[in-house]
Amino acid sequence: MAGAIKIAVLRERATGESRVSATPETVKKFIALGATVSVESGAGITASISDEDYRAAGADVTDDAVQGADIVLGVQGPEVDQLSGANSGAWIAAGLDPFGKRARVDAYAAAGFEALAMEFMPRITRAQSMDILSSQSNLAGYKAVLVAANLYGRAFPMMMTAAGTVSAAKAFVMGVGVAGLQAIATARRLGAQVSATDVRSATKEQIQSLGAKPIFVENVAGIEGEGAGGYATEMSEEYQKAQAELVSSHIAKQDIVITTALIPGRAAPRLISDAQIATMKPGSVIFDLAVAQGGNVEGSVADQVVEKHGVKIVGYSNTPAHLPADASALFSRNLYNFLSAFWDKEQGKPVLDEEIGNAIRLTQGGKVVNERLLG
Ligand code: NAI
Repeated sequence: MAGAIKIAVLRERATGESRVSATPETVKKFIALGATVSVESGAGITASISDEDYRAAGADVTDDAVQGADIVLGVQGPEVDQLSGANSGAWIAAGLDPFGKRARVDAYAAAGFEALAMEFMPRITRAQSMDILSSQSNLAGYKAVLVAANLYGRAFPMMMTAAGTVSAAKAFVMGVGVAGLQAIATARRLGAQVSATDVRSATKEQIQSLGAKPIFVENVAGIEGEGAGGYATEMSEEYQKAQAELVSSHIAKQDIVITTALIPGRAAPRLISDAQIATMKPGSVIFDLAVAQGGNVEGSVADQVVEKHGVKIVGYSNTPAHLPADASALFSRNLYNFLSAFWDKEQGKPVLDEEIGNAIRLTQGGKVVNERLLG
């Protein structure tokens, strides 16, 4: 291989995106592998990392970081015009939103790039440390509870004071994946009484082990709810009706509701209707973590606090970006863990294996090659 390969770290351009895809820690590690690293000026500012910090780690900090790059790192996918000057066949490794930004995937192919969608990382044990969905969802679940707690005009924990008792908030978490588990743990730490539900029955024990109460539809056909890769599947009509009834009676008694339900490649399932919101107490707060995927809650609007029937409904379109320093640190480690796991010492560059390569590679040789996009 002729010389060290060059890794470029982009400054994010998307509105509200405050994360960055490499930190001084991962820059040092890439250099230790034998790469050179070029960071776009100002890339880390919103995540509390200065250009000087990157320079001290050994990176070149410049306005034309992508010039001659073999691997381009991003949090979100760059537009193709940001990539001019990158080497032909360069890898673009980022959260590429392949379904939402399909035209851009075609543009990567046309420009001859090899686009790697980090959110398509398979959920297998050896890829856990490379999984951006997990690392970012975890922080999102935590932040959603804090935001809800802030908007709630009452306290979370029970407090016995000389002036009387403040009762504990009742929090309900809908969707117990990575974000939901962290939301349960966070609400518990703040002192709320927590309950939770999911379509995957395997989550029941996880809910209990965090000290929360499981609320589950029982005795309805097809309640398993778990499909490929541990993800949820779409549920039968019978199940959906039973779930709606169960949720209706439970939700009326809740002060805080955090919804996190997603089905990969589809719009988020609708879990809470306007009629159900009307039964909640005024002053209650709902945080819709699925708002960017269409929302679990009727009437939720991205990046706004909407008030319906006296209930505040909030959803951030990019919740991890509200914890930019930690979110960047974890995202950057995911990218480093990924590239370093495949680093071929002799060739001085990463070489993907079939299982992970086929899962995440969207484009190659001028074509869209990923079966989830072709299927
Ligand atoms: P997700 O973000 O796709 O969905 C969030 C949650 O919503 C899921 O638990 C899902 O079952 C639930 N949901 C979907 N439709 C629903 C409905 N109608 N009502 C209620 N809940 C509904 O899920 P996430 O967080 O990505 O995790 C999915 C699974 O993958 C989990 O079992 C997790 O532990 C596993 N996982 C495995 C990894 C690995 O082995 N590398 C890494 C990360 C997660």
